Amino acid sequence: MPISLPSPPTRRAALRLAGGTIAFAALAMRPLAGSAQTGPAGQPLKIATIGAGREGSALGTLFVKAGHPVMFSSRHPEQLKDLVAGLGPLAQAGTVAEAIAFGEVVLLVVPYSVVPEIGKEYGSALAAKALVIDVSNPIAPRDGEDIVKWVDEQGGAGLASAKALPGAHIVRAFNAIGSTQLATLAHRQGDPVGIPIAGDDQNALALASRLIKEVGFEPVTVGGLAMGKYLVPRTPLGGVHTPEEIRQIAATLK
Ligand SMILES: NC(=O)c1ccc[n+]([C@@H]2O[C@H](COP(=O)([O-])OP(=O)(O)OC[C@H]3O[C@@H](n4cnc5c(N)ncnc54)[C@H](OP(=O)(O)O)[C@@H]3O)[C@@H](O)[C@H]2O)c1
Repeated sequence: MPISLPSPPTRRAALRLAGGTIAFAALAMRPLAGSAQTGPAGQPLKIATIGAGREGSALGTLFVKAGHPVMFSSRHPEQLKDLVAGLGPLAQAGTVAEAIAFGEVVLLVVPYSVVPEIGKEYGSALAAKALVIDVSNPIAPRDGEDIVKWVDEQGGAGLASAKALPGAHIVRAFNAIGSTQLATLAHRQGDPVGIPIAGDDQNALALASRLIKEVGFEPVTVGGLAMGKYLVPRTPLGGVHTPEEIRQIAATLK
């Protein structure tokens, strides 16, 4: 029996089809806009780390293990060769500018004294990102008394970060979990480890929450960026707590 083949599309129909495919591909490849969509859980998001020292490298590693492409950055990216080689094809190293251009989400993991400098140089690029996770803490012996005084005058680390990075969709998170503990605490059996988070932008909080769950912790929103002052080591929220403990401690803070 003769097989009837579909007739080939006309040139115009083929062009229309190709145009539609290109438009669809362009839509699919469009980066998350600054309006901060959360995207479906499990969808890989390009993550940049500004700072790949102890905490930045440990956190970036968790994101690679969760299936996200990560660009770790340094002023000397060649020094990150061994780190990225050990993490496989999802990990790469670049300069700070390259990482910011790459990332849909940025982890800011630098000494706090560097935050205003990053804001001056990259503020507008960071404001266009869906989410900046601010892991940095002002610590006087390391950052100096002047910066700690300036942070206090702004109302604490969260509001100071917002001042330094105007327009950025900031969520403070992971501030008081030590770099050496992250890998063992992630995906803890039984009660998960809670991560207190603070932010003013609901979409950024939702995206941060999704990512924190994916790397094996339970996010607990404790309030807006004004609560960011409590997300530093040696405060009641510092250290390892269950989500319920975080909720109870946060209820006592203002
Ligand atoms: N360590 C922890 O357990 C821990 C836990 C929670 C939060 N934190 C906070 O995370 C931040 C980083 O701490 P860390 O212990 O990871 O420090 P670290 O090991 O000293 O690493 C600091 C990183 O900051 C980068 N950096 C320094 N100056 C810079 C600049 N001017 N421009 C761009 N990058 C710069 C360094 O990159 P280069 O390669 O370019 O020098 C380095 O990767 C701090 O604010 C800390 O309080 C740390």
